[in-house]
Amino acid sequence: MLTEEKNERLTKVGPGTEMGEYLRRYWHPIAGESEFTENAIKPIRIMGEDLVLYKDLSGNYGVVDRHCPHRSADMLYGYVEDNGIRCSYHGWRFDETGQCIEQPFEQVCDPSARMCKRIKIKSYRVKAKAGMLWIYMGPEPVPELPDWDLFNYKNGFAQAVFAELPCNWFQCQENSIDPVHFEWTHNNWSIRQSGSNGPYVPTHLKLEFDEFEYGFTYRRLRGEEDENNPMWTVGRVTLWPNGFYLGHHFEWRVPVDDENTLSVLWIFSRVPTEQEPYQQEKIPSWYGPIRDPRTGRWITSHVANQDFVVWVGQGTITDRTRENLGQSDRGIVMLRRRFFDELDKLKNTPDFVPKALIFDKDINKDVVLPSACRDELINGLPRKELGEHPLLGPYLKDFFGQAGQPEDVRLDYEAAVGQKMEGAKFFAVHGSGK
Ligand code: FES
Ligand SMILES: [Fe+2]
Repeated sequence: MLTEEKNERLTKVGPGTEMGEYLRRYWHPIAGESEFTENAIKPIRIMGEDLVLYKDLSGNYGVVDRHCPHRSADMLYGYVEDNGIRCSYHGWRFDETGQCIEQPFEQVCDPSARMCKRIKIKSYRVKAKAGMLWIYMGPEPVPELPDWDLFNYKNGFAQAVFAELPCNWFQCQENSIDPVHFEWTHNNWSIRQSGSNGPYVPTHLKLEFDEFEYGFTYRRLRGEEDENNPMWTVGRVTLWPNGFYLGHHFEWRVPVDDENTLSVLWIFSRVPTEQEPYQQEKIPSWYGPIRDPRTGRWITSHVANQDFVVWVGQGTITDRTRENLGQSDRGIVMLRRRFFDELDKLKNTPDFVPKALIFDKDINKDVVLPSACRDELINGLPRKELGEHPLLGPYLKDFFGQAGQPEDVRLDYEAAVGQKMEGAKFFAVHGSGK
C-alpha cells in the first residue's frame, strides 16, 4: 500500500514533476520507422507534451513542438523540406535543433534576419534504431541509446508493435516484475478461453528477485520444474526504467501522459536454419486494436492484450492506497523502493547519474542482458527443434504476441520462416508459450 502522495510521485510524468524529470533522462521508443513511408509528419504526445515527429526530404528525423512559435498554427499540417519542417501558415522553417532558419516575409523586410536568429521552436533529439524512432527529452549530456544485443542478431524477422492504452504507465511497468501473473493472466485464462475448465498449469512455488546494473531479474520455479529450468537459472529482466526483456522480445511502457501509455513490443523471431541466410530488408511496425469492434469488449485472445486488460482494469491511475500486497508482490515493492530512492537522489544529490544510463560509446555495443534463449537465437535451430522449443516454438505457428497483425506483415513473416501460420485458434488452444 502507498500513500496518495507516494502514488503521485510514481505516476505523474508531466514537465516539472519528479518522475517526469527522471524519465526524461532516458531514450524512449515512440514510433516505427515504417510509419514515415506514407506521411512525413506524425503527431505524438509524450509525458504530457504535444509534439510532431517528422522525416525531412533528406531523410533526417526531428521532433518539434506541435504549435508554431509564430501564431501557434499546427505543425502537423506543416510540410517538410530538404532540411527541417515548415509551418504551412506563413512559411517559417525550423531545423532539427528547433532553430528558425527561414521567415520568408520577415527576411524581405530585414535581409539580416535578426528575428529569425532569435526564434526557436521547442525540439528534442530523435534517433532511429531497430526500426523504431526514439526520443530523448532530458538535459545534457545525452546518454547513449542502448544497443541491446538482440537488436543485432542475424537471420531473424523483427517487428515493432504498438498500442495506446488508457491507463498510467507505472501499473504497466509493475507487470514487468510480476511472475505469478503469467500463470493466471496468460496460461490459465487461455485455457479457460479455449472452452476448457482445466486442468490449470502448475502453480508457482518459488520466486527470486535480484537487482543488477540494467534493472532487476526475476526467477521463478513452478510445480514439476526442476532447478535447471532457465526460468529459475536465468529468469527474465525488468528493464530499467520502463521496459521488460524476455530474451526474444522487449516491451516498453512509454508514458503518453498521466492517464495514457504507449505500449511498445519489439519481437525478434529467428528463422529456422533451413531458411538461412535470411536478411530482413525493413522492420515493419504496426498498431493493434485493443477493443473488438463487434462487441465493444476488450480483446483477450493474445498475450499483450491479456496484459492490457488487467492493466487498464486497475483504474486509470490505480489507487495504491487500497491495495493489499502479498508475497507475489515482493518484486513490485523492490521496484517502487528503487524508484523512490532514485527520485530522492535526483532531487538532493548534485551530479547524480540515474540508474542504467550508458554514457560510454565503447560499452554501448551489443549490450548483453540475461536471457533464457540467447544461444538458440544467435546460433539458430533446425525447423523441428525450433518448433519444439518451449519459448520460441509457438511463434512458428502463429503470431500470438498481440492482436491485429496486418496481413502483409504475416505474409512477409511466413516467407521468412518458410511456413504458414496456423491462425488465431492456435493461441487459444496452446496458451501463450510464455
Ligand atoms: S503560425 Fe507558423 S508561420 Fe505563422
Ligand atoms: Fe503478461
